[in-house]
Amino acid sequence: MVASRIAVPGRGLVPPGEPVLRGDDRGVLHGDGLFETMHLRGGRPWLRDAHLARLARAAAAVELALPPAGALTDLLETVSAGWPAGVEGALRLVCTRGPEGGGPPSVYATLGEVPAAARAARRDGVTVATLPLGVAARTRTALDWLPAGIKSTSYAVSTAARRWAARNGVDDALWVSTDGYALEGPTANLVWLAGDTLCTVPAAETGVLPGVTAAWLLAHADALGLRADERLVTPAELRSADGVWLTSSVRGLAEVRTLDAVPLRRCPRTPALRDLLGFPLP
Ligand SMILES: Cc1ncc(COP(=O)(O)O)c(C=O)c1O
Repeated sequence: MVASRIAVPGRGLVPPGEPVLRGDDRGVLHGDGLFETMHLRGGRPWLRDAHLARLARAAAAVELALPPAGALTDLLETVSAGWPAGVEGALRLVCTRGPEGGGPPSVYATLGEVPAAARAARRDGVTVATLPLGVAARTRTALDWLPAGIKSTSYAVSTAARRWAARNGVDDALWVSTDGYALEGPTANLVWLAGDTLCTVPAAETGVLPGVTAAWLLAHADALGLRADERLVTPAELRSADGVWLTSSVRGLAEVRTLDAVPLRRCPRTPALRDLLGFPLP
């Protein structure tokens, strides 16, 4: 087991037990902050620039002043330096709004091994149940005051959904809109295969998180002779799809085995999709 790390700009690696935030940090008090989670492979954060670009877009949307991009990449290098190339890492970059009453954002990075459960989900797939989100598919993007599709540290809704899934004996949840469309999981995007078209839910239309993993996979679908599309989908359509997956940076690609206890078609393309993404099996 490789020891987890925390790094802070200007301080380098700090002992994991040492404080990096003030008690009145608005990230702690209000969940007022942003983060990105990246897959460290070969000692380097995969798709780093796409993650930093999403962070910059989110920061603009919530008017949070980020340090210069160079300071963030330096921080990522500091926390990853010397990490064993053969060990998958989960690298988190956190930027909160900083202390109450004003003050610079609090910035730090954490790095730890990819949890065994995430690796097992890649190998074994996941069981999923639909969960009402209580909003229509296009509600959030229609509200011009609401920053949609940002990776905010306010994860209370997501963690509640994960606890609901655990209580209901499934691995994960899939949020469904009041008008009947499947949106995303609490920590993952939805990807499915319809014939020879690999699909995901349109983030710009629905306000789901524009996933870096799903975007990369769809952009490279042609390597497997597939087309790519963004469209709305119902759980009933997913039940007859040619493959259904959840994608995210650390878990990678996890095939959905059952949806609301109904077994889904196993897709022979799952290993090729996972290999295309470059995620190893445990
Ligand atoms: C709500 C939500 N949707 C989708 C994703 C997947 O995004 P990415 O592939 O960029 O990790 C995440 C990742 O944590 C998420 O929290």
